[in-house]
Amino acid sequence: MPLPPGLDSYELLRSLEPSHDLPGYYHLRIKKDPTGLPLLAPGGAPQSTPIDTSAFFGAAGPIEIEIGCGKGGFLVEYCERHPDLPFLGLEKEPEIAYFAAGRLAKRPHLKHARLVLGDAFHFFRDYVPVNTVQAFHMYFPDPWPKKRHHKNRLMAEPFMEQVRRAALPGARFYWGTDHEEYNAEARALFATLPWLSLEQEDAAPTEGIMTNFEKKYRKQGKPIYRCVLSISKNS
Ligand SMILES: C[S@@+](CC[C@H](N)C(=O)[O-])C[C@H]1O[C@@H](n2cnc3c(N)ncnc32)[C@H](O)[C@@H]1O
Repeated sequence: MPLPPGLDSYELLRSLEPSHDLPGYYHLRIKKDPTGLPLLAPGGAPQSTPIDTSAFFGAAGPIEIEIGCGKGGFLVEYCERHPDLPFLGLEKEPEIAYFAAGRLAKRPHLKHARLVLGDAFHFFRDYVPVNTVQAFHMYFPDPWPKKRHHKNRLMAEPFMEQVRRAALPGARFYWGTDHEEYNAEARALFATLPWLSLEQEDAAPTEGIMTNFEKKYRKQGKPIYRCVLSISKNS
């Protein structure tokens, strides 16, 4: 979107709205004026509208978040094993998010699982409160393989700064990809972050649960790069 005249940079206003048809499914939307134009945040500052996690998940306590959950293969299996856990899947593609939300809706016993359709960076920055997340799951994020598209990669320092802010001390960060070069770039970034330490190299799928993409890639015989990191808030 071109910058409005007179502005060097701007921030858009967003709202988080429950969907009308599926329980536990929310849309992170850009707010628009009556003519359909996006609303700019006053002063250009990012909005800060942290959710009340107890109210949002219907359960108190530490939460876990899957970033780019796709069709929800991991989310559903993991939540089945931890039915009392407040767990959030974030997915930016509407059809994919709707599919994953449909799978959750068919499992009403997973009372504290939620799905948000929206961009993970903005959701973290504007909606996830500080010191609330005990585990981050990031599996097979879009690799944007062409060099000129690397700027679109979610795994980058601004995103990890939001992870640090949202994390509880001792929180875990689970990372997995099939993309060698993206993995190397991510690992180089992790190594520069003093608050992040490598806990497990060549990790197995978390609790033995493979994601949808992982099943496909393993069948194709592709190498998979996984690790587990832990987050300290003292550095
Ligand atoms: C390659 S797929 C992997 C899906 C799933 N994690 C798996 O392993 O089967 C990456 C997913 O991340 C989603 N995604 C990419 N960027 C995102 C962002 N900024 N916020 C939320 N979801 C995102 C994509 O729409 C896609 O569904």
